[in-house]
Formats: sequence, C-alpha cells, structure tokens
Amino acid sequence: MSEPHIGVFTSGGDAPGMNAAIRAVVRTAHYHGLQVSGIMGGYDGMIKGEIRPLGLRDVSNIIQRGGTILRSARSEGFMTVEGRREAKAQLARAGIDRLAAIGGDGTFTGALVFDAEHAVPTIGLPGTIDNDLAGTDLTIGFDTAVNTAMEAIDRIRDTASAHDRTFFVEVMGRDTGFIALHSALASGAEQAMVPEQLQRTDELITALRDQEASKSSCIVVVAEGDEEGGAFVIARKVKERLPDLDIRVTVLGHVQRGGSPTATDRILASRLGVAAVEALLAGHRNAMVGVVNDKVLLTPFDQAIGKRKQLDADLMRVLRIVSI
Ligand code: F6P
Repeated sequence: MSEPHIGVFTSGGDAPGMNAAIRAVVRTAHYHGLQVSGIMGGYDGMIKGEIRPLGLRDVSNIIQRGGTILRSARSEGFMTVEGRREAKAQLARAGIDRLAAIGGDGTFTGALVFDAEHAVPTIGLPGTIDNDLAGTDLTIGFDTAVNTAMEAIDRIRDTASAHDRTFFVEVMGRDTGFIALHSALASGAEQAMVPEQLQRTDELITALRDQEASKSSCIVVVAEGDEEGGAFVIARKVKERLPDLDIRVTVLGHVQRGGSPTATDRILASRLGVAAVEALLAGHRNAMVGVVNDKVLLTPFDQAIGKRKQLDADLMRVLRIVSI
C-alpha cells in the first residue's frame, strides 16, 4: 500500500497566518514521510483538479506573508452533488486520500458532507479572522486582524481628538463581536456595539450624552453584524438624537484581512499544522484542531460549527469600567 497522501487547501475568507499553517502542514507531512499536495482555490480548485505536489522548499519564505499561496474561494460548485462527485474523482486521480482544510464554518460543513458521501477523512484548521469557532480559544488570523484594527483606531483617535469628533468605526466579524470588543479594549475606545449583546441605540445615546460632559472626542467600535445595523446606520440614529455631536464614520473593511501575521498567529498556525497532520496520521476525521487553555485538542466539526462561541462577558464589563 502506498503511503498516505494529504491534500491541503485554504477555503472561505482568507486570514493572516494561513501561509504559516500551509507551511506547517507541508513540513510535518514530509517529516513523517507522507506525500502532500496543495489544492488551489479551495473546493473550486478541487473540482477543477488544480492540484500540485508541494516539496519542503515550496513553502520557504511564506511564514511572514498574508493571504494564501494556495488562494481561496467560497465555492458554489461544491454545494452540489455533482460538484462533490467531480472533486472526489480529481482527488482519486491525484492519489489524495485525506485532507487538511484551513478555513471556517462553511469549509467544515462542506468537509462533513464530503466525508459522508465519499469517505474522504478531513481534519480542519481554524482559519478565519472572525474567531467564531468553538473548540479553540483563537482562530488563525484573529490576533492579526485585532492588531490591524487597533492600529487603525489609534490613528483615528489622533484626528478625533484634534477635531473634538465622535467616530463610529466599523470592523469585520460577520455574526460576531470578537474583533469589535478586542480592538475596542486594545485601543481605548469608549464603546463597542456587538451582535451578541443587544445594546440598543438608546443606551448608547445615554452613554454618549453622559460622556459628552467630560470628553471632547469619542470612539465607538461597531461590529459589521450588529443587530442595530452597521456603523452608518447607528451613526445616523445617534446624529438625529444628538445633533450637536460632530460625527464621522470609518469602515475598516478588508484591510483587516491582509498583512503580515503576528507572532501569535504564526505560532498558533505552526502548532495546529503539526497537530492536523498527526491527527490524520492517527486515523482521525471530521474534527478541527484547536488550542484551548494552551493545550492542542480535537473538536468534532459539528461541535466546532454548531455551538455558538460566546464572547467573554467579563471583557464587556472591563470595557465599561475602563472607558468611563
Ligand atoms: O469570515 C471572514 C470575513 O472577513 C467576515 O468578517 C466578513 O463578513 C466576510 O468574511 C467578508 O467576506 P468577503 O470577503 O467574501 O466579502
């Protein structure tokens, strides 16, 4: 029997540290004498057979780079039975018998269906800036995104205080407030609007009115998925009620997805890359590797994506206290 052959790919929104994860998967596979190939462009590339062997030196000089050398996509084709059948045929042609999938909930949902239909074992690595996967304290890319948002907000603070303005800064996080809360805390922002907490605009207006007396400028960080609407919507509602505030809105957008990964993300990606390959080698499937309380562990895909990861309520309390 030939040795195991791992296919590694990145899927969904890219995240800083994905390259460090690819490097770790490839190096660990070679370390254990396994074959490893890169699948380009996520599940789309699998369907098209865009697959190439990766040698030890193919992943040199990428640990510090943002984006993903394997490119990424959100695949429509893989959502169809025919698409998955073609993907299986392409993997068989390339001799790939197991997968290391770097991505988020959509990626792991696809892997579960694929294994049920075609018996292809997959181990997932949490790669998303959103930090919205249960089974890991941090996802690869989150720390870099928070640092990027923090640096941007530091700059906004300079101009906000120069002009006595109130800024609404919108950050990413499709349905979650992790980036918003962490970047607000790190940058000394006054408020964070997060979807997990139904903080009504009324409460925000009261807080801003209270702060108006003692502060000339103010930063409100808004998660893009906030129930009350994005930063523009919330800013408009506040302006209607507090017309004297000089308000500006900044949407940070995809700038948060790029850039060189922080040391935290590179180290996390390296640990998880090693763990993913060793889990595949040990015969595991349908599970995500993660780090919880500084220990690497496996969480079944259905739990990693099914359970809603909670924001730390105490961090919200800390923000309220330190921003008075
Ligand atoms: O899931 C990661 C993420 O960056 C979210 O924070 C954001 O809502 C979404 O992807 C943006 O996706 P796209 O790049 O497809 O616009």
